[in-house]
Amino acid sequence: MDVRSPFSRRKFVGGVAAAVGALSLRPGAELLAQGQTAQFTGGEAEYDAFIKLASNENNYGPPPSVMKAMQDAFKYANRYGYPDGNIVQVIADHHGVKRENVLLTAGSGEGLDVVATTYLGPGKKVLGVSPSYASVFQQASNVKADSIQIPLTKDYRQNISAMIETTNRHAREIGFVYMCNPNNPTGAVVTAKEIKDLLDNIPKDMPVLIDEAYHHFVNDPAYGTAIPHVLEGRPVIVARTFSKIAALAAMRIGYSIAPADMVREMNVYASNSVNVLAKWGAVASLKDKAAEADVKAKIVDMRDKTTKVLESYGYPVIPSQANFFMVSLGDRQVQGVIAEFLKMGILVGRPFPPLLNHLRVSVGTAEDMEKFMTAFKKIFPQKAATATRG
Ligand SMILES: Cc1ncc(COP(=O)(O)O)c(C=O)c1O
Repeated sequence: MDVRSPFSRRKFVGGVAAAVGALSLRPGAELLAQGQTAQFTGGEAEYDAFIKLASNENNYGPPPSVMKAMQDAFKYANRYGYPDGNIVQVIADHHGVKRENVLLTAGSGEGLDVVATTYLGPGKKVLGVSPSYASVFQQASNVKADSIQIPLTKDYRQNISAMIETTNRHAREIGFVYMCNPNNPTGAVVTAKEIKDLLDNIPKDMPVLIDEAYHHFVNDPAYGTAIPHVLEGRPVIVARTFSKIAALAAMRIGYSIAPADMVREMNVYASNSVNVLAKWGAVASLKDKAAEADVKAKIVDMRDKTTKVLESYGYPVIPSQANFFMVSLGDRQVQGVIAEFLKMGILVGRPFPPLLNHLRVSVGTAEDMEKFMTAFKKIFPQKAATATRG
């Protein structure tokens, strides 16, 4: 089942660019609207004015404890070897692993790239689902490898039996399996039992990368982190980030938990250049459990409230366990809808083919979501309330 997406990123980005271009917006805004959030090229005031619901960021920002830790760390700005809050040991203790099991990276995105660089190469493939967080598929092509992307099931879940079957059939070519849990862009989880089934039924030495960027927002009791599988000695790599729950996206800090021999292999390709403020901010954020619980509760509550409003307005939402959700647009295509939101100063998610009749919306503050709903109601007519989702 070599299922490659028929849409190239460039193609659909071009489509949105054309739609957005017609609105004669500044180039910085166009880039944001295309999901090209790497660098905003417009002005500060222009950026600040947007309601940002496009990149699954944490719109609350870091709590005071984390801000203070980063401010205090400025005194080391002129140093190379400086006290770093013992960040690697703090992460290890947090998970009950050894420091040899921790690979610190500049965002979890660097960790995903490092896994792909380490376990792929010409002739190799990464196996995952589509749509999912596509950065490992992109990195695969950067290192002249390829990907096998299995479509989601009809109810937008990851197809575990197809993943097992395909991994076994292509075992020699597959460098590693990628699973995003909860999945971006749907927010759907893979259960702990499904992960165990996958690991039990593919070759014992097959590396499996489980991207838990949105772990902290999950309430579903059937979900579980895959870190215990690392402790069992399986070739499992779990990627985590401080960009989402901890609101440190611009600080660039994340990590992977993996068996010590895999961490050593991967470390060769890691930049080892996480900055001092990020390290101290991350340490403070792991310690401030009250702030984490508070922001999780606010975001989950706002997600569930917004979902209910959308569904009673007639637009089904894919059940999400993350800080974003996908709403069905009926027969409307998402490209034009993104442009309409942009006209009203609201940035929403980019298209995720083949789900082109769905819009991904990140969950912001109560005020952000009120503005989103007002705009949504201007763009879309009310329909009969829906209980059926998807
Ligand atoms: C599923 C997933 N993994 C990883 C990342 C990378 O995040 P970062 O590099 O900021 O840690 C993102 C960012 O949106 C994501 O959605």
